[in-house]
Amino acid sequence: MPNDALSECSPCIGKGFAKGEGPRPAPIMFVGEALGKNEVVLGRPFVGGTGRMLRIMISHAGILPTDFYITNTVKCQPPDNRTPTKGEANACASRYLWDEIREVSPNILVPVGQVALATIMPHAPAGVTSVRGSLFNTPWGKVIPIVHPSFVAQGNPEYWAITVHDLKRIKHESLTKVYNEPNLKLNLNLFPTAQDVVVLVEMLLAKKLKFAWDLETVGTRWQINIMDWGIAWSDRDALCVPFLKRGGYPYWSEYDEDKVCEALWELMTSNLTKITQNGFTFDMPVLMDQGWRVEPPCIDTLVRHHVIATELPHSLEFLTSAYTSLPYYKMDVKAAGGMLWAPDEVRRRYNCFDCISTYIASDEIDKEMLEEGLL
Ligand code: URA
Repeated sequence: MPNDALSECSPCIGKGFAKGEGPRPAPIMFVGEALGKNEVVLGRPFVGGTGRMLRIMISHAGILPTDFYITNTVKCQPPDNRTPTKGEANACASRYLWDEIREVSPNILVPVGQVALATIMPHAPAGVTSVRGSLFNTPWGKVIPIVHPSFVAQGNPEYWAITVHDLKRIKHESLTKVYNEPNLKLNLNLFPTAQDVVVLVEMLLAKKLKFAWDLETVGTRWQINIMDWGIAWSDRDALCVPFLKRGGYPYWSEYDEDKVCEALWELMTSNLTKITQNGFTFDMPVLMDQGWRVEPPCIDTLVRHHVIATELPHSLEFLTSAYTSLPYYKMDVKAAGGMLWAPDEVRRRYNCFDCISTYIASDEIDKEMLEEGLL
């Protein structure tokens, strides 16, 4: 096999050759990086140690061998087992992978690791550890990236459970090619009047609604300024109370700021449930340093998630991918110039997304806590 194969792969300098295996068409298509030592010997993809690991995670997620086709971006092993360069990955993909994808015509395409992600989605918004588990609609159809099993093996054992979790989502998405636009019929108020804030607070108090809140700040530990103060009171309703506009200019007149702060004071000292992500160590101390009071009951989703899933990451980025169908949005502000310089609408939308994601995640985490008798 390797000799024949080498002639098939004349432009390359690597060892061995293995195309993919599995049914064609198949509902799921995994695309790894390149061959390892065992794959070179056997002429098959994902049959070494890391390959076996991936196959075990796949079966733990309930995906059957008849459901997937598995291949690599690069069909050989690069010299010294190094990572293929971008040029090599693209050249090999043009020669084999693009045709393979057309032939397999998967309902869901799964880049396994950074090399496959960068080749299949050259404009991915972030690296694979950030975007893993998120669903993307691409020219190739639906894509959900996962981390490479060698990353799991090399000192990141918590990614075993994360990857199995992502694979379950992949299984679910493999039922159809149809990309269901996440329900983004969100009701966001990004340019509120003082009256809007007052009316919202009155409504929350009257209806005794719990809410998620989140601060966007600029500055250092010693001089923190609040740019935005988001509030979400359902999985689609959120209002951003801006304090600073792009560049640091005040949003409110002094008169309106007094009215807004009075309403917020009433909200934060009320007996409504106040949900934050990482609020116990960030948002609440920031407020209190500035003279605010935050009365219980308060929930921190980071802490609660730690209780139910100690081994998993607890960042909002992770909770969003695990518990919500919100698209990956964490790059929005960074890409648009950072907290201080991103356009107001981008930053405030991001602030509202954080609140909505926290609200949804909190509900889901509570369900799990209830099931496990932990609430
Ligand atoms: N084995 C493969 O076939 N591909 C990888 O990406 C890693 C191990």
